[in-house]
Amino acid sequence: MMHESGLSPFDFKAAAERHGIQGHADRLNGIGLQALQSSNDRVSRWVLSPNDMGWRFDFTKQCMDGPAWQALVKLAEDAHWKKAVAAQFGGHAINATEGRAVLHMALRGDPEDDFQVGGDSVMEEVMETRDAFLGFADDVRNGDYVASDGGAFTHVVNIGIGGSDLGPVMVHEALAPVRIQDGAPLDVRFVSNVDPFHLDQALLGLDPKRTLVVIVSKTFTTQETMANARRALDWLGDRLGEESGRHLAAVTSNVSGAGQMGIAESRVFGFGNWVGGRFSLWGPVGLAIALGSGAAAFRSLLKGARAMDQHFKSADSEQNVPLRLALTEVWNVNFMGHQSRAVLPYAQALHRVPAYLQQAEMESNGKAVGRDGQPVSWSTHPVVWGEPGTNGQHAFHQLLHQGTEKCPVDFVAFREPMGGDADMHKLLLDNAVAQAEAFCVGKTQVQVAEEMASAGMAQAAIDSIAPHRTFAGGRPSTFMLGDRLDAFSIGALIAAFEHKIFLEGLFWNVFSYDQWGVELGKVLAKQLGADFASDSAKWTQGTEALRASI
Ligand code: F6P
Repeated sequence: MMHESGLSPFDFKAAAERHGIQGHADRLNGIGLQALQSSNDRVSRWVLSPNDMGWRFDFTKQCMDGPAWQALVKLAEDAHWKKAVAAQFGGHAINATEGRAVLHMALRGDPEDDFQVGGDSVMEEVMETRDAFLGFADDVRNGDYVASDGGAFTHVVNIGIGGSDLGPVMVHEALAPVRIQDGAPLDVRFVSNVDPFHLDQALLGLDPKRTLVVIVSKTFTTQETMANARRALDWLGDRLGEESGRHLAAVTSNVSGAGQMGIAESRVFGFGNWVGGRFSLWGPVGLAIALGSGAAAFRSLLKGARAMDQHFKSADSEQNVPLRLALTEVWNVNFMGHQSRAVLPYAQALHRVPAYLQQAEMESNGKAVGRDGQPVSWSTHPVVWGEPGTNGQHAFHQLLHQGTEKCPVDFVAFREPMGGDADMHKLLLDNAVAQAEAFCVGKTQVQVAEEMASAGMAQAAIDSIAPHRTFAGGRPSTFMLGDRLDAFSIGALIAAFEHKIFLEGLFWNVFSYDQWGVELGKVLAKQLGADFASDSAKWTQGTEALRASI
């Protein structure tokens, strides 16, 4: 039976036991990832390349086989994943603790898509807002919307934090290679941290006369963003006086809040509360992306994401990329016991993707209370972290190859070069492929000893050093290879991760779309600000001593 939220509680543990999934994991741990590579259907069975998406998702190096996968699919079926997808796309209030629908997919929808909230279509409003903010972005870029002195803007400062920063900055950075090729009239900078240095640094060398400040906050109450916004307004006001209004735009669900800050209504772009902050880059929150890379690129980003939405809704369990990503993570976390995942983009332009995914994934599914209000008795989201390759190879890959814990890895790379030098790009790809192979296959002590012997080393040295030069292998990875880095491919990839997050929350029986866990720290920070000189009883001794020392 469907819960009123659209998602009924799910007993993950009972389903896992019903389908004997831990037994499959034990069996496969006995066989080993290396041995699985020799089966004839490894590539045909474990590589997904959805039509027209420009992505190849390679799961061949996950420690999984057909029977294990079938058991996981049964678990997904027990959770009614298809019905849950329909509930989400149908605008049910699946964000039950906040009583909201979750329809960021509407932001990238086409006019004919029938996204509804509470029985009312939202597409007209979505299209109007899209045309408005993209029109504004291109007007600024073309010099049709000019600064207070009549000259063109040259710089944009985007102020926002969390979902009002990470998505826009991640995509903006990702599109840098395209922007450099096409030429970009605006230099866009991002400020998120309440550390005043962040804004100081962003404003360094900027001329207020040439600078547009965009304030992005779904709630328009977030402490960090409001503090940065006030300082930026002062910076503009000090130099431009009354004229500074033309240099301001805002994006928010709290349109009146932006009005109170004195931002003209025509430059306040709104969105509905059925868009979660960390899923909001597809709408006006992405204004900075459009200012940086143009409306056409932004529309292409949406097309890529929509293509993944269509795939997600229609592909069966064998071909469905988000389902494969979600069940692979569930497998690694709950049955293989891996509690973290590294995201390694072999593309410098994707350097903010790990940070973006940290919010999208951990703020969504880093929870321990189930949809039935009871503590869950299984692990939920692993810690996500990462850095671009090849940099990571010279830093933490030591642990990935030889550490005591196995950490599954997501590789992301592109066939076509991002810069002009095809040979160097080949070097980059060779490194990515080599790392995946090394994680999987490793190198036995016998192989190491043979190599050392043929290099003429003495037996005593071989005996003492060979164990340190041995690689156990058996370390799982997924390899995501795009044809080329562009707005479409980024849109499709990010949408795949969004849907993976949704399915994981469904299976782990948590509500993925609230974030109550961030509240306590916010409240205490406010109290500390207000109570610094009084009420010592409320605080631990250590905190009391710490704040006295500040
Ligand atoms: O503190 C968490 C959070 O609420 C995120 O979920 C959100 O993306 C971020 O703060 C910023 O919120 P807002 O867009 O309302 O400023």
